[in-house]
Amino acid sequence: MIKAKYPVAKFSEIQTPFYYYDLEVLRETLSEINAQANKNKFHVHYAMKANANPGVLEVIKNAGFGADCVSGGEVEAALKAGVPATKVVFAGVGKADWEINLGLENDIFCFNVESVPELEVINELAAAKGKVANVALRINPNVSAHTHHYITTGLSENKFGINMEDLDLVVDLFPSLKHVKLIGIHFHIGSQITDMTSFQGLCVRINELQQYFLLKNVRLEHINVGGGLGINYEHPNHFPIPDFEAYFNVFRDHLELKEHQTLHFELGRAVVAQCGSLISRVLYVKQSGSKKFAILDAGFTELIRPALYQAYHRIENLSSELPTEKYDVVGPICESSDTFAKGFELNQTKRGDIIALRSAGAYGEIMASQYNLRKLPKAYNSDELI
Ligand code: LLP
Repeated sequence: MIKAKYPVAKFSEIQTPFYYYDLEVLRETLSEINAQANKNKFHVHYAMKANANPGVLEVIKNAGFGADCVSGGEVEAALKAGVPATKVVFAGVGKADWEINLGLENDIFCFNVESVPELEVINELAAAKGKVANVALRINPNVSAHTHHYITTGLSENKFGINMEDLDLVVDLFPSLKHVKLIGIHFHIGSQITDMTSFQGLCVRINELQQYFLLKNVRLEHINVGGGLGINYEHPNHFPIPDFEAYFNVFRDHLELKEHQTLHFELGRAVVAQCGSLISRVLYVKQSGSKKFAILDAGFTELIRPALYQAYHRIENLSSELPTEKYDVVGPICESSDTFAKGFELNQTKRGDIIALRSAGAYGEIMASQYNLRKLPKAYNSDELI
C-alpha cells in the first residue's frame, strides 16, 4: 500500500509553513481512478477548485483528465496546464460576461447553466460571436448529501442549480434560443460524502428526470453527476486512496444510462486530498494552567478548513518519536478560531519540531489568504525534493 513519504531532512532547510505534495500518492490515485472509470467508460473532469498548483495540475493533465472549472481564472489555468478545451466544463451560479466569453472563444465542451437569466446571457454572447454554445442544465435534485451543511449543495434551500419545478419553463425556452444547444444535465449534491446511499439517491432522481426529458423529446447526450466523494481524514496512512471502485459501481448499478449517453464526473477532493500536507514548525510550547498549547507558524491563513467547517486534519510531529501528550494545536493568527485541534495526542513536542497537517491537498493551498498580511504559502513536491 502506498504511503506518503516525508523528506524531513530536506524540510529542515526550508522556510515553513509550506505545502508539500507527494506526487507518487497522486499518481497512484490517478491510476486507480483511471482503471475504475475506464472499466465503465466514465469521463472524469478534475474539479480545479480543490487545488490548482501547477505541479499537481501537470500530473493530473498527464493522466488524461478533463477539468471542471467555476471561474474564468480556472478555465485559464486548465487550458494553460494543457487540458484540451474539449474536456473543460464550466459551472457556477454567477458567471461574468468575460468568463462566458472566454469559454466561448475557446470552444469549451460545456457550460453548466444554473438559471434562466444566465442561459439568456450565454445565448446573447454566443450570438455576438456567431457561435452555438453547448449547455447542460444544472438541476437541483433535492437529494441530501449527509455531510456538513456548509458543503451541502443539492437541497432546494441551496442557491445552486435549477429547481425541478422550474424545469418546464427552462426547457421550453430552448427552441427560441438559437445560440445554445442543450446537450446534457448536471448535478452536484455536496462534498466529503462517505455514505454511498446519497449517490444512490441521486441516481434514482436522475432516472426519473430521464423519463421527463424523454417525454419532452429532448435527447440528452451526457449526464454529469458532479463530484463529492469523501476521503478518510482520520486514517490517511491506512486509507490513502478512496474506494473508487465502490463509488463508480453505485453509478454503474443504479443509473439507467441510454446507449448513446456518456457519464461524467467532477471529482476534486478524492483526487488530491491525500497527496498534500501542510508543513509547519512549532514556534512555542506554552503551558497554560492544565493545558499545553503547541503554537505553530501555520494558521488558518494557510489551512482554513478547521476554522471554517470544524474539519479534522490528522496532525503528526515528524521530528519526535517520544511518547504522546495532549496539546491544543493552534496557529499565530489573532483569532480564537485559529485552532487546528484541541486535546490532540502528539508525540512530545518542542520548539522547532516539524509538524505535518495531513490530507490537506484539497481545499488547502487554494483557500489560503493573506489575513494579518501574512505571505501566501509556498509549495514543493516530491519530484523536486526527493
Ligand atoms: N462540482 C461542483 C459543481 C462543485 O461545486 C464541487 C465542489 C465539485 C464538483 C467538487 O467536489 P469534491 O469532489 O471536491 O467534493 N471547501 C470545501 C469544499 C467545497 C466544495 C465545493 N464544490 C471543503 O474544504 O471541504
